[in-house]
Amino acid sequence: MRSTLFLAPLLAAITTTRAQHVKLEIPEVDEYVHSMLGEFDHWTHYPGPSPTYWHHPSPRPTKPVPPKPTNQCAYWLADIKHQGIAAFNPTPSTYQVFRNVKDFGAKGDGVTDDTAAINNAISSGGRLGPAQGGSTTVTPAIVYFPSGVYMINASIIDYYYTQLIGNPNCLPTIRAFPTFSGGLGLIDGDQYGANGLGFGATNVFWRQIRNFIIDMTLVPGDSSVTGIHWPTAQATSLQNIVFQMNSNNGTQHQGIFIESGSGGFMNDLVFNGGNNAAVFGNQQFTMRNLTFNNAVTAISQIWDWGWTYKSININNCTTGLNMSSGGPTAQSVGSVTFIDSSISNTGVGIATAHGPNSQPPTAGSLILENVVFTNVGIAVEGEGNTVALAGGSFTVAGWGEGHSYTPNGPQTFEGPITPVARPASLLQSGGKYYERSKPQYQQYPVQNFLSARSAGATGDGHTDDTAALQRAILTARAQGKILFVDQGDYLVSGTIYVPAGSRIVGESYSVILSHGNFFNNIYAPQPVVQIGRPGERGSIEMSDMIVSTQGQQRGAVLFEYNLNSPSNSPSGLWDVHARIGGFAGSNLQLAECPTTPDVTVTADNLNQQCIAAFMTMHLTKPSSGLYLENVWLWVADHDVEDPQLRQITIYAGRGLLDQSQEGTVWMVGTAVEHHVKYEYQFANTQNVFAGQIQTETAYYQPNPSAPIPFPYVATLSDPIFPNTTTLAAGNVSIPAADGWGLRIVDSSAINVYGAGLYSFFDNYSTNCSNQGNGEVCQDRNFEVVGSRGVTVYNLNTVGTHYMIEVDGVDVAYYGDNLDGFVDTIALFRN
Ligand SMILES: *[C@@H]1O[C@H](CO)[C@@H](O)[C@H](O)[C@H]1NC(C)=O
Ligand SMILES: *[C@@H]1O[C@H](CO)[C@@H](O)[C@H](O)[C@H]1NC(C)=O
Ligand SMILES: *[C@@H]1O[C@H](CO)[C@@H](O)[C@H](O)[C@H]1NC(C)=O
Ligand SMILES: *[C@@H]1O[C@H](CO)[C@@H](O)[C@H](O)[C@H]1NC(C)=O
Ligand SMILES: *[C@@H]1O[C@H](CO)[C@@H](O)[C@H](O)[C@H]1NC(C)=O
Ligand SMILES: *[C@@H]1O[C@H](CO)[C@@H](O)[C@H](O)[C@H]1NC(C)=O
Ligand SMILES: *[C@@H]1O[C@H](CO)[C@@H](O)[C@H](O)[C@H]1NC(C)=O
Ligand SMILES: *[C@@H]1O[C@H](CO)[C@@H](O)[C@H](O)[C@H]1NC(C)=O
Ligand SMILES: *[C@@H]1O[C@H](CO)[C@@H](O)[C@H](O)[C@H]1NC(C)=O
Repeated sequence: MRSTLFLAPLLAAITTTRAQHVKLEIPEVDEYVHSMLGEFDHWTHYPGPSPTYWHHPSPRPTKPVPPKPTNQCAYWLADIKHQGIAAFNPTPSTYQVFRNVKDFGAKGDGVTDDTAAINNAISSGGRLGPAQGGSTTVTPAIVYFPSGVYMINASIIDYYYTQLIGNPNCLPTIRAFPTFSGGLGLIDGDQYGANGLGFGATNVFWRQIRNFIIDMTLVPGDSSVTGIHWPTAQATSLQNIVFQMNSNNGTQHQGIFIESGSGGFMNDLVFNGGNNAAVFGNQQFTMRNLTFNNAVTAISQIWDWGWTYKSININNCTTGLNMSSGGPTAQSVGSVTFIDSSISNTGVGIATAHGPNSQPPTAGSLILENVVFTNVGIAVEGEGNTVALAGGSFTVAGWGEGHSYTPNGPQTFEGPITPVARPASLLQSGGKYYERSKPQYQQYPVQNFLSARSAGATGDGHTDDTAALQRAILTARAQGKILFVDQGDYLVSGTIYVPAGSRIVGESYSVILSHGNFFNNIYAPQPVVQIGRPGERGSIEMSDMIVSTQGQQRGAVLFEYNLNSPSNSPSGLWDVHARIGGFAGSNLQLAECPTTPDVTVTADNLNQQCIAAFMTMHLTKPSSGLYLENVWLWVADHDVEDPQLRQITIYAGRGLLDQSQEGTVWMVGTAVEHHVKYEYQFANTQNVFAGQIQTETAYYQPNPSAPIPFPYVATLSDPIFPNTTTLAAGNVSIPAADGWGLRIVDSSAINVYGAGLYSFFDNYSTNCSNQGNGEVCQDRNFEVVGSRGVTVYNLNTVGTHYMIEVDGVDVAYYGDNLDGFVDTIALFRN
């Protein structure tokens, strides 16, 4: 299908670009930008690549990095002109996005009490604090700490939508006075008030803390002090933080305390000393590259549904990971997947309470893969302090406990398992799965950055920035610069093309916001952000960005990834998210898209204005080599700006579709929620590492059910849904046409290291998932069709009657795999 109608806005935008064209100093750059813009004339229509692949200029060598400035602590983010704006703040002209704590009076001299100054830097400007609760997107802030030692005597209180960022070249230290008191955490990410946590832990989104030393060592060891209190949800991260704790006998220090929420991701953390160096309780999390030295217990896992640990190093602790909480009669930890890690000089490596008689039956499910034990007393402790895996020095290729389906079951197992046959293209040297932390570009001086706003884009949420933003991306690429997208909402009416070689970084999640007719044809979908064109080779990096839609956008594909990137230098998206509806500027809030539980919704009476996207992320057939880390593709279930967080109804057709023929895709800490037809779909693809993945079914389904309102598209391997309900015991009817959480079609080598597929609602009511009600929110949530070489470790479902369907046959009934609020299968293989 080819329609020139929808080309019009884009061509108009490009014409504007040419007219407004400003002569750049480097002629060849100018030529390059023009040649790239010219290629838009050869636009082809979605889906699928054009038969003749794009011709594009061969990648130009990027300019050599200028030598590091003489000031070794110089950091571009501090030095760049601060001109981010909060576009939908009531007073964007006066609201300050970037705050340097020193501008608010913090001394960082190791002597002065900086508590008040830091808290003032965070709270000033009418921002949302825990005392008010609720949530908002209109007061984003970066609170920046230059190098220094910041003394505090009470908690730093974190606010909503806040990025606490230290200088990565000279890490600032936040150090507690010996007299520190009065708070939970040197940094309290969610302060308790009279009514419990200030922010509802499962609604704390879009925040980061990175590049700090959190120093508790002046506080007496017998004082139970905490480094960071972090009950939190999706699109949040802790990165590059060192926790210094007392390591004397009897220490009561702890580095991180999380008691609730729905996370989340963290990486590159070092814990020295402490009693419980980290205390973790949350629905699910992905944690990568954490090192623990000299703690009593490295990780105290107080509860979870699913958790993926990768590249964990535990040294010289009494206990490594203690997941025995609740004991054998009432285990509170659902499951843990622990891979590519090492535990050395430690008494008990992993303590569980799991065994033949432990309850709930599948709680304490555990999978180890590629774990090196060195001089460990007991590798895995089981129910009643029994030895499940003896200690010593050895490498575990694969080991587990829980229920297995291969593909039929359940079998109860405890012992060695055959590890995944890891595709070589997914590995780094040494056999671990490839991993790469979010680039902070700290080695580059500020001259290597191009500001999108300086380049002419407004980000004001009102001006059409299509041409200006496109030009900024191409100019940065041509000059070998990193594009800094200053905080703002960049309204676009045509596709933004990101060529190979681009490096793009946002500021407190800068938003690309699509609108208009170009993206509104449900039969001719268009990419909002197109990463490479089909046939293009090379790679890109993008971080701290959000892509969104405004109003009705029936044909919007928020991310289309076409690049063919090499497996040893894949493209990467870090802290890059989709947000569809439910925020200021979306025109898809409570007023426009209220819930209608009392109306039977059909294709005819459905609120067409709230059809907000066609698909959220598409990895097309010719694409390959993509590394996703901490990526949350969210269709709003509630209005973030509403103080009561009331539910809304937004329709987005498809979540993440991976059709990459070559594959080689990593999904590290990703989540996809509330789409119509499916959250994750793998179709005719291979070579995938995914873990922890997390989904939620749309809360309104089956009112309407998943065939409505998006027409079936065969080339996208859309699922075909039955039009029926099924009956469970007592003639309870179960919707059979709710969207899939995970669907794997005609694929191979799909390796899922932890999955939480949740269906909490039926027609906005949670009765169907309340414990003991028979898990009747939907009949099935995960299917495998025509695929071999699929492994899923620690599959956790909620509200789903049958946990796995293989080639049309239900193979796992929830009632055989009970684990408290969830149902758990430790090992599925087909
Ligand atoms: C810290 O606060 C305590 C009271 O909570 C006070 O006694 C002490 O003097 C303060 N220390 C500093 C260094 O401000
Ligand atoms: C730690 O202190 C306890 C009593 O406070 C003592 O029994 C124990 O032996 C000490 N352990 C070490 C390793 O010093
Ligand atoms: C792991 O984290 C440490 C501490 O932040 C860092 O130095 C190291 O480079 C990280 N390793 C990887 C592979 O990212
Ligand atoms: C091991 O940990 C203990 C207790 O924290 C500490 O005293 C000792 O120095 C550590 N050993 C090494 C080699 O770090
Ligand atoms: C694990 O934690 C429990 C408390 O939940 C404690 O009773 C037990 O001793 C710990 N086990 C080990 C091996 O540290
Ligand atoms: C949805 O639930 C409401 C009650 O909350 C009920 O009145 C309505 O009939 C239900 N609609 C459908 C289509 O199930
Ligand atoms: C469900 O109903 C729709 C519309 O009525 C129809 O197009 C579709 O084929 C039906 N699906 C099945 C599996 O019967
Ligand atoms: C379920 O419905 C069938 C008819 O549809 C009926 O024969 C049967 O008795 C019902 N069972 C229960 C438990 O209500
Ligand atoms: C949910 O269950 C409660 C208690 O059984 C009942 O009162 C309520 O009507 C149910 N809600 C819906 C929407 O079915």
